Amino acid sequence: MQTRQLFHGGDYNPEQWLDRPDILEQDLELMQKARVNVVTLGVFSWALLEPEEGVFRLDWLADIIHKLYERGISTILATPSAARPAWLAHKYPEVRRVRADRVRELYNRRQNYCYTSPVYREKVRRIDQELARRFGGDPAVVLWHISNELSGECHCELCQAEFRRWLQERYGSLQALNKAWNARFWSHDYTDWEQIESPAPQGENAVQGLTLDWKRFVSSRHIDFFRFERDCVRALAPQAEFTANLMYRFHDIDYHALAKELDVVSWDSYPTWHKRGETVEETALDTAMMHDLFYSLKGKPFLLMESSPSFTNWQPVSKQKKPGIAMLSALQAVAHGSDSVCYFQWRASRGAEEKLHGAVVGHDGRTDARPFRETVQVGEALEQVAQVAASGRPKQAAILHDWSNMWALEGSSGPRNAGLGYWKELAGHYNALARAGITVDLIGQESSLEGYGLVVVPMLYLIGEEFAQRLCQFVKQGGTAVVTYWTGVVDESDLCWLGDTPHGLTRMLGLRRAEIDGMYDGEERRCSPVEGAPAALPATRASVLCEVAALDEEDPAVPLLVYDEDYFAGAPAAAVHAYGEGRAYYLASRFTPEFYESFYAEAAKQAGLAPACDQELPWGVLSSRRDGFLFLQNCTEAPVTVLGCELAGWGTGVWQETENGWEKIL
Ligand code: GLA
Ligand code: ZN
Repeated sequence: MQTRQLFHGGDYNPEQWLDRPDILEQDLELMQKARVNVVTLGVFSWALLEPEEGVFRLDWLADIIHKLYERGISTILATPSAARPAWLAHKYPEVRRVRADRVRELYNRRQNYCYTSPVYREKVRRIDQELARRFGGDPAVVLWHISNELSGECHCELCQAEFRRWLQERYGSLQALNKAWNARFWSHDYTDWEQIESPAPQGENAVQGLTLDWKRFVSSRHIDFFRFERDCVRALAPQAEFTANLMYRFHDIDYHALAKELDVVSWDSYPTWHKRGETVEETALDTAMMHDLFYSLKGKPFLLMESSPSFTNWQPVSKQKKPGIAMLSALQAVAHGSDSVCYFQWRASRGAEEKLHGAVVGHDGRTDARPFRETVQVGEALEQVAQVAASGRPKQAAILHDWSNMWALEGSSGPRNAGLGYWKELAGHYNALARAGITVDLIGQESSLEGYGLVVVPMLYLIGEEFAQRLCQFVKQGGTAVVTYWTGVVDESDLCWLGDTPHGLTRMLGLRRAEIDGMYDGEERRCSPVEGAPAALPATRASVLCEVAALDEEDPAVPLLVYDEDYFAGAPAAAVHAYGEGRAYYLASRFTPEFYESFYAEAAKQAGLAPACDQELPWGVLSSRRDGFLFLQNCTEAPVTVLGCELAGWGTGVWQETENGWEKIL
């Protein structure tokens, strides 16, 4: 789906208003006012599309799709599988999910169907085919949106059987499975496939290889379900393109694997703007890391599928966006590679769970309400920078974010069960690079390292042999790697690597892990720079986990930072090692944000990475690049001057590269 425009619109749920034709009429008028050019329809329409089993009513939807299209508004059409009608759940209990404690749910909420159930798949196939037959070739439909926010897990008997089949395929024999899970421990050897059950609070939860495989299995079920629905539609609509709306810091699905099945990545972004104790700049960075992950999944523009024009109703405290933040937030998505700004939802529901969630049009229906006015402004701004659409981003730095690693890391026991703060670790590296104006991708162990100057490997506890080799190769050929503590501990089955660790990286790093100590919350060890070291780093404090490295005897790394305290005193806390044409840094612990800022300013320069903007920027101004475009965003409330122009508080400037240099287009 290549578009020469930026999409602006959002989730539209007219099925809630069919008895109010006046409101539906008003929607068309207001959408045009708000410069809406796309809506997502049908996400939760199943009960109306199929009011009784096998009875389909699609005319109302066709009517709305075409009325919108006549006014220049395209449709992203959703399949309705996320929320099944009551009649279906009542008649076929197997479609309802079974929880980890083996209790089958009653009919409730949404996104809780059994993705394995043949009955559910058959019902989904029927409705998807009806939609595909009717709208498959319709020029009004620009993209298909499969289901909604795929998530959760089902432990029913159908899923258990499927899990055993999946394991048989993965391991071939029980012998291989027992070995991979080290099942001999506590005498857990399995002697029949039927003995294997998914993890449960009252059941097995100590065989960590089993837990890891269960997570992989659940992820693969969601991907299989996506593929199933996509192919139902595709069979009748061969030209159709597909997305699924992904989520913030999401655990259940390996998005690198899911992305292979998508034509376009999209995601739902609900930053906690104005969260107590967090600056706007910090919230912006937290969101930027997600945008960058979603761009990286396919290495091409994604869609911002949902965002709130004002507030949510599900955060502990739902702060509304202060004036100007809606624009900052919208343009930030575009700056990081989104080709859309879409909202949840167009018009606020009258009742049920989300009636008090922010919407473009509120219950008062007023166009002078702030969310509506700001949506109009965003629409105008998107038209002004429309030429950004479809442009890519430069490849500079990559941070490893791998789902298997995250599952294994968090499912393990020791050396710190009080929380490892994996995302916090990623953010420490990300924020420093982003503040330095470096474009960052978030990639998995299977991703290519080609084209990057710097690859950061934070807490890659689970490391595959193949990745370790490719990382060494990358450095040998001139790349820069940054490897942190708690890397290279276990293999793909969560079996500890035997021999020196970080597995596969010790020669590249010029050191090995000798000791590791868990730290209490708030416990820190002071570290100071080594005098005369090749890189000047600031003094800092180590927390969470502290490693002591032993330098390689033949080809040692050069310490940059040493611990000052305790029996760690004098041991390297950070080191650098020249390897082939490149260099590898080792960071033995989690340090302060200021440390990462100095460290990455230096490491990025060494790696030859140029910041997005070649001029010094005031604090709080974040810069990012899309090919041919520069975005500067003022994440402070006070106006600043950048590139000779004034940027208002929370303002954004966009420049386009021309023969005569940077030309300001917004
Ligand atoms: C998610 C869902 C939407 C809605 C919003 C509310 O993103 O996809 O249906 O519930 O959250 O924030
Ligand atoms: Zn199930």
